[in-house]
Amino acid sequence: MGITYSEKSRTFHLFNTSFSYIMTVLPNGQLGNLYCGRRIHSREDYSYLLEMVPRAMASYVFEKERTLSLEHVRQEYGVYGSSDYRFPAVEILQKNGSRISDFRYKSHRVEAGKPKLPGLPATYTENDSEAETLILTLEDPVTGVELELLYTLFSGAGILARSAHFVNRGREAVHILKAMSFCLDLPDCAYEWVQFSGAWSRERHPRTRRLEQGIQSVGSMRGHSSHEHNPFIILKRPEADEFQGEVMGFSLVYSGNFLAQAEVDTHDTTRVLLGIHPEWFDWKLEPGEEFQTPEAVMVYTDRGMNHMSQIFHRLYGKRLARGYWRDRERPILINNWEATYFDFTEEKLLRLAKTAKAAGIELFVLDDGWFGKRSSDRAGLGDWQANPERLPEGIGGLAERIESLGMKFGLWFEPEMVNKDSGLYRAHPDWILSVPERTQSHGRYQYVLDFSRKDVVDCIYEMMAKILGCGRVSYVKWDMNRSITECWSPSLPADRQGEVFHRYILGVYSLYERLTSAFPTVLFESCASGGARFDPGILYYAPQAWTSDDSDAVERLKIQYGTSYCYPVSSMGAHVSACPNHQVNRSTPLSTRANVACFGTFGYELDLNCMTREELDQVKSQVDFMKKWRSLLQFGTFYRLKSPFEGNIGAWMTVSGDRGQAIAGWYRILNVPNPPYSRLRLAGLDPEALYRVSEDGETLGEFYGDELMYAGLVASDKNSGDSPHGGKTSCDFASRLYVIEKME
Ligand code: GLA
Repeated sequence: MGITYSEKSRTFHLFNTSFSYIMTVLPNGQLGNLYCGRRIHSREDYSYLLEMVPRAMASYVFEKERTLSLEHVRQEYGVYGSSDYRFPAVEILQKNGSRISDFRYKSHRVEAGKPKLPGLPATYTENDSEAETLILTLEDPVTGVELELLYTLFSGAGILARSAHFVNRGREAVHILKAMSFCLDLPDCAYEWVQFSGAWSRERHPRTRRLEQGIQSVGSMRGHSSHEHNPFIILKRPEADEFQGEVMGFSLVYSGNFLAQAEVDTHDTTRVLLGIHPEWFDWKLEPGEEFQTPEAVMVYTDRGMNHMSQIFHRLYGKRLARGYWRDRERPILINNWEATYFDFTEEKLLRLAKTAKAAGIELFVLDDGWFGKRSSDRAGLGDWQANPERLPEGIGGLAERIESLGMKFGLWFEPEMVNKDSGLYRAHPDWILSVPERTQSHGRYQYVLDFSRKDVVDCIYEMMAKILGCGRVSYVKWDMNRSITECWSPSLPADRQGEVFHRYILGVYSLYERLTSAFPTVLFESCASGGARFDPGILYYAPQAWTSDDSDAVERLKIQYGTSYCYPVSSMGAHVSACPNHQVNRSTPLSTRANVACFGTFGYELDLNCMTREELDQVKSQVDFMKKWRSLLQFGTFYRLKSPFEGNIGAWMTVSGDRGQAIAGWYRILNVPNPPYSRLRLAGLDPEALYRVSEDGETLGEFYGDELMYAGLVASDKNSGDSPHGGKTSCDFASRLYVIEKME
């Protein structure tokens, strides 16, 4: 790994064994991009890659000559309006109304490791040899605004983390109207764009289309990263697939409004932008003030999408997630939400906990409804004190009883919200985001607290810390169940209202930081009506997230499959729930529900006391299985094998670091009469090793790794269903879980 600078050609080369990123100072002092891709040789001068030909209708920087047109060179941090006409990375409004900037190279430095981004989540290193950071300082001579572009290259894989930092060293205030975290101009457009989109209950479905001249973008203006689009996109070569080919993933480490965009210009150059959504963003920078953008991470590989995902999984699992739970097997939990909704008593909860304990479940999570006057979703949010009618001895008392059963206790909060019917709202009606004299829109009868204000965050911290301070809460589910409207804060002047969305998220991060520091062994799971805030920003504080409110096994197969493109299995909350399923009314076998959920942080969310003896026995063996294999399932190397978005069968697998053990999941959505044979080609095994393959504890045979990977594991039905009398036929939503162990 290295970062070199040639004084002569004014060229930077960031490289490791698999990746090169090359930039140069352009003739006008701005920065240009020369190359981003597979590692190439180092040389002093790559100016042959800087192509500048005069073109009709182009505008040029220098008088009396026609070479440098910013529209036609690839830039590092594009500016609009001074011969570049593409969407820019940065836009700064000045006192005279101008929005032209001209950031010119001033100096640079290289640091070992990676600096922290104050107040923001970001990837990190544990020792300096893991990464190197180039900090390029640029300056706009007219405004005096200084811009630092940070580039961290991690060793080993093609991982580049970028962000931008502004300091106003001028004499007048400016307004940053747009400041992207990542801007990359690529020399061609032969890519497919993959976005991860959906809605509540069907989050992160991959959608693919060819890049075309014009703009393709996704984003969120809802105040959270959203169900609708994830702050993650892939550009892949059309011929690339899961196992080979050039792929680039772009991921924003941020939980608020975002924009991810690719613009293909008239000469087939592609500009990728990723950062805070510029709509409604306006950050005032007084002289001396600074602004740091969130971080964006790019992963490059020429070995296909699985490899890209594995690089993200390692990075986000080990160098973004933090703390006590990062590397620990996650507790198997029972959550009471789909078991009781708001209709519970302490006794009912304890009965559920006892049955769960008998099945080997380790953590009891009390969801919504334990506080204030919360007996429906119309009241109580904001009053984080236990409801004495429901829990006479408070959270401490209930938690003690759960602990005395031999289980840990976890609790639900929705810290950012308030109902009007609450003590908190009655005491502080001015604490919600809303515009004077305008309608206050609600979502689920609730309003958004103004987390841009420190006093509001402090108050919520005090209430939560008091509850957690009883020492018996081992897990917190942090929910966020509506999007932001009327985003305006009375605490800021008119010309700073464009800061509120971002300040809100900074407030959320600050509360997370305080709570996770004060209660370092508490496991935090984030949630936002399921997966509306399943993003890398939150993963920095909460190592797992409720993947979706949709707990149906078939829907979850798709949601978890889509989520796996960027996020590790250890981050995906996945529960077995009741049938007919509460979201889609579908009935799936209990085995399939567990076979999908075990590729996640596993748990149950149903009334175990309504199950038959046989079903409870099955639950117990699922829990035993999970306890035995969860380290492999949650932390192994994950491969997508067959996409449930492309056919009737989905499959995935996970392999241990030493390739000694693997588990593969095979899922057939609808039953097929007289079905074709089915072969599942596995991946990631040692081709020379002999493996025993078993299903439900029964050995199916011994096979070499090469056989399993190249000839495939025979996953055909044992019976074609031709006999109406006897013979076990399959059913809809069937699944198989194969355990693959290397022979001694
Ligand atoms: C959201 C969450 C659910 C549950 C409810 C409680 O919808 O996603 O898991 O916690 O809130 O109100």
